[in-house]
Amino acid sequence: MPSTESARHGDGTPRVAHLQLAILTILLAAQISTLLAGPMPPRQLTASLAAVTALAVLQARHLRAPARSPLWLRLGLVSAEGLTTYLPLLAIGAAWPGMGGFLAASVLLVLPGRAAWPLVAAVIMGLFAAAMSQGLGVRNSGNVAIASLAVGLTLFGVCHLTSTIMHMRGMHTEATQLAVVKERLRFARDLHDLLGYNLAAITLKAELSRRLIRKDPAAAGDELRDVVDIARQAVAEVRHVVDGYRNISLAQEIAAAASLLASADVAARVEMSCGILPDKVDSVLAMVLRELTTNILRHSTARNCWITAVQADEHITLSVANDGVPRAAANHRDGGGLENLASRLEAVGGTLSATVCDDGRFRVLAEIAI
Ligand SMILES: Nc1ncnc2c1ncn2[C@@H]1O[C@H](COP(=O)(O)OP(=O)(O)O)[C@@H](O)[C@H]1O
Ligand SMILES: [Mg+2]
Repeated sequence: MPSTESARHGDGTPRVAHLQLAILTILLAAQISTLLAGPMPPRQLTASLAAVTALAVLQARHLRAPARSPLWLRLGLVSAEGLTTYLPLLAIGAAWPGMGGFLAASVLLVLPGRAAWPLVAAVIMGLFAAAMSQGLGVRNSGNVAIASLAVGLTLFGVCHLTSTIMHMRGMHTEATQLAVVKERLRFARDLHDLLGYNLAAITLKAELSRRLIRKDPAAAGDELRDVVDIARQAVAEVRHVVDGYRNISLAQEIAAAASLLASADVAARVEMSCGILPDKVDSVLAMVLRELTTNILRHSTARNCWITAVQADEHITLSVANDGVPRAAANHRDGGGLENLASRLEAVGGTLSATVCDDGRFRVLAEIAI
């Protein structure tokens, strides 16, 4: 059973990291194949492969943690990458592939925005100049510069996109947690408002009667009578609030669910076309919707949710569907929540079914004959 946290993050996070690694590997493989294409003395080839490995390691580090290290360290690493890019070019000449793209990407990833772009232009122009100095001619040198720029921008784009996705996921999780905290606060506030005053009054009057009991037993008796009255009143009020929590209506609950889901960044599309429902059916369906909303927040990474309550003939059907269903949900077993709902519905002559549909959505149908 997936935990709240992992379910909401889904298994997309490792997939994004794998995609990043795959792109880096493909680009490196292309560079290595260029390196191996022409004849090269073994010592030069070994040194070139060592330089490519060093560049790959530096690049992977920049992709993982673009701006987390101190600026001096980032500058040091980019300078090291600069040396590893240009020195082999000067040493082995045209056989050295256009590795400047990696350097351009690193500059964009690790240096502050304004300083980065002119430096990228300098890197690309430097590559053009170095290629020219190796006698590659304007056309080939231009190709080296353009290819390097394309590689640099691709790597930078992928990394930038990844960090944006991570950031948005973090915000989504925070919004969900906030929604849950808000609901808890609402309950705590109700409890506090209800019992806080009465318990304080009971304490005060019980203390007063303790002091009076010897001096003025009649006055102490009056205070104790008040204590009993206040305690009775508190019991009645608690019952009233609990009934209020129990006697919820489907219409109210749909509005509350849509607002709770919206605060967790889930767009709820609601369709409600049913008349006035019998009290029992109304409150059971409201309880069903409450659990299903909690399930969406706990077990999925939903962005969209579809809630419909439709009355046809003598039947009312509540359908709640969501996307962002983790793969594990395909083999889901009804846990405590769905089983409870099924027995609640059974008690009023209804049924409940939960399935992962062909379009990947998780859908729960509750049907009651009225
Ligand atoms: N909205 C949903 N989206 C994806 N999976 C869900 C959803 N609701 C329930 N599930 C799956 O069904 C299982 C059973 O849910 P439930 O009976 O409510 O138990 P619990 O919430 O206590 O785990 C969950 O563990 C989960 O795998
Ligand atoms: Mg549940």
